[in-house]
Amino acid sequence: MIKKKILVTGGAGFIGGNFVQYMVKKYPQYDIYNLDLLTYAGDLTKHHEIENLGNYFFIKADIADSVTINSLFEKEKFDYIVHFAAESHVDRSITDPEIFVKTNVLGTQVLLNAAKQIGIHKFVHVSTDEVYGELDFDPTTFFTEETPLQPNSPYSASKASSDLIVRAYYETYGLPINITRCSNNYGPYHFPEKLIPLTISRVLNDQKVPVYGNGKNIRDWLHVIDHCAAIDLVLHEGTIGEVYNVGGHNERTNLEVVKTIIETLGKSEDLIEFVEDRLGHDKRYAIDPTRMEKLGWKPTYTFETGIAQTIEWYLNNKEWWEQIISGAYQSYFERQYTLK
Ligand code: NAD
Ligand code: DAU
Repeated sequence: MIKKKILVTGGAGFIGGNFVQYMVKKYPQYDIYNLDLLTYAGDLTKHHEIENLGNYFFIKADIADSVTINSLFEKEKFDYIVHFAAESHVDRSITDPEIFVKTNVLGTQVLLNAAKQIGIHKFVHVSTDEVYGELDFDPTTFFTEETPLQPNSPYSASKASSDLIVRAYYETYGLPINITRCSNNYGPYHFPEKLIPLTISRVLNDQKVPVYGNGKNIRDWLHVIDHCAAIDLVLHEGTIGEVYNVGGHNERTNLEVVKTIIETLGKSEDLIEFVEDRLGHDKRYAIDPTRMEKLGWKPTYTFETGIAQTIEWYLNNKEWWEQIISGAYQSYFERQYTLK
């Protein structure tokens, strides 16, 4: 049995949290270290079930704090790093870009440098399709790994910058890296400020659902567990230095997504409220996942099965999202929207 030490950054967040649980259960022979600053988006209550399994460890730290990160890496010789930690919400980046540059760009560089010092086996950088900018509504066009980076929001610009720093550490120092660029995720433990969990929680409370602009912007949705499986595969089988786009061909307009949730919950479409558009709102994202498929990955959920599973999860786990909504999140929501 090969024992490995894997550092997962951002493992208290949505995707990192699902990934930590997936890895702790799938690989009892690996020690999984979750490093997270526990910002507004980080929550450890989701990990109660795995806390005592013996192969899960938590470290509270800021990835942009080089002193703390360097001393941690002197103590712990990690074999692999899977880097999720980031400021991830586009709307927040429009109102407060600075923390996005600090965490997403500087934080990534601090980790790369520490990884280089200890001779890591692989650094997987979890990035996003948003680094490619936007597509028009022609359904035959997709983002490939060769699409030029043209990020439009402060969030996506910070992620694109982090991708370039990761690439530079590969080209300059030969650091063994992969970059993954995934489309929009959804599923359990999705923080209720993003479209799908926001819609589910508000519809369940008979509250208005804010749809930006005309609701015709398109996103390509992937269930979070399919994303976790893709990262697992890239970690173990990905060609060093390669970028992998991850997506399952589930393009939907925002209005379609919202209407599907309302219909599934048996509520009225009168809950939809069109509100002022997001600044610089990207029209459409769509992934060409051919390279991932060649590596042996394919998604297990369609949008229909995934959204049904997700709605069911939110119905069965009200205490999780209610504790989030009742906290600091609420004041953020009030600042962001002025709904009737
Ligand atoms: P999230 O906001 O739910 O979680 C981010 C986590 O990072 C939180 O636990 C937070 O506490 C932690 N964090 C923030 N700043 C930190 C710091 N300075 N030091 C240590 N930890 C810090 O984000 P998510 O939606 O789970 O996204 C995870 C990653 O996946 C991000 O890098 C994001 O760019 C990428 N991604 C997200 C999606 C999506 O649809 N959500 C799609 C593709 C890629
Ligand atoms: O594409 C991957 C990206 O997906 C990730 O890199 C980001 O971290 C993640 O947050 C997500 O970004 P989006 O901006 O696409 O996700 P969000 O859920 O914020 O919005 C999805 C779409 O829904 C987008 O077109 C804006 C719209 N929207 C969003 C909110 C929060 C609304 O119409 N109303 C809303 O209230």
